[in-house]
Amino acid sequence: MTFYELYGAPPSVRASAPGRVNLIGEHTDYNGGYVLPTTIPQRTTVELLPRPGGAIRALSIDVGQPTPFDYVVGTESRRGRWTDYLQGVTWVLSKAGFAVGGADILITSTVPLGGGLSSSAALEIALLRAFREAFSLPIGDVQMARLGQQAENEFVGAPVGVMDQMACTLAGNGEALFLDTRSLEWSVVPMPASAELVVINSGVAHSHAKGDYRMRRAECEQAAGLLGVAALRDLDAGDLPRVMRLPEPLGRRARHVVTEDDRVLAAVEALRAGNVASLGGLFYASHESMRDDYEVSIPEIDLLVELARATPDVYGARLTGGGFGGSVVMLARPGRGRAAAEAIVAEFAARAGKAATVLVP
Ligand code: GLA
Repeated sequence: MTFYELYGAPPSVRASAPGRVNLIGEHTDYNGGYVLPTTIPQRTTVELLPRPGGAIRALSIDVGQPTPFDYVVGTESRRGRWTDYLQGVTWVLSKAGFAVGGADILITSTVPLGGGLSSSAALEIALLRAFREAFSLPIGDVQMARLGQQAENEFVGAPVGVMDQMACTLAGNGEALFLDTRSLEWSVVPMPASAELVVINSGVAHSHAKGDYRMRRAECEQAAGLLGVAALRDLDAGDLPRVMRLPEPLGRRARHVVTEDDRVLAAVEALRAGNVASLGGLFYASHESMRDDYEVSIPEIDLLVELARATPDVYGARLTGGGFGGSVVMLARPGRGRAAAEAIVAEFAARAGKAATVLVP
């Protein structure tokens, strides 16, 4: 269905944002730490035509919704559906003092939902870009990322960090975004020519509005409080002995964050040096830390990582994103990523009886 078929007029604005895959730096963003995400080719696209008054009509093709959802700007209310992201965006724009009027909207996306690839941030940023253009709103890119996060935190009710929105907004194709989530200082690091990015979706979906992510975040805050620091970012490897004296499981949770921050810094160095073997080793170490200390992996994801480890063309693999399902990110020998990923997915189907999907390359 086209915009014209749905609303009887063409859109005046077309905006989009990519999904992201985090290379390394997981569950560090809400601890003030470092992250290193990059974008994927899959995108969410928003077509929009402003209309008089404050009424919004919106249809998202990929959620199988039969008719447009409608509401009036200023009357947003949470319903536990995808439309919360849309309402969250108009709510946060109004709250920040930006005048948003009515609009007809059509959304299409190739970013898998619940795949750990930031379908939420892609939707938020695509919507924010469309509103920014349609209503000439003076919003800078970093501010836009923060508005997206605020919509998700305060309206949708998912206590996520700022990594995804920053990655979707700032990282270009073939670039990793090295971000300090405390200062929001960032720089772009080119992806090395000596490695090919591979992303496999396990097919097990997750939701960050649910309890597990929230509980990890609360555990980190509790650990920081007991250790007398503002955030776990303020600790380093020298603090690990006292970190491990915390009551279980807080010690292991904090150890993941402290060691993961160090791994991001090491990964940036390896990336800049084109040292893919060292980068791959950091991926495996990150995965083990997420599996054993942070406990956000699941058996299907562990199996995909183990199959990757047994594949000679793969340098490293790990769970990417919030966890409890989602996707695995890998680095492979250039030109060999697709074949390696397909072999891994075939073996996964044989062993787990489930269908995983190769998303990149
Ligand atoms: C989700 C959140 C991010 C980040 C990751 C874990 O993707 O949206 O803010 O916390 O989980 O690294």
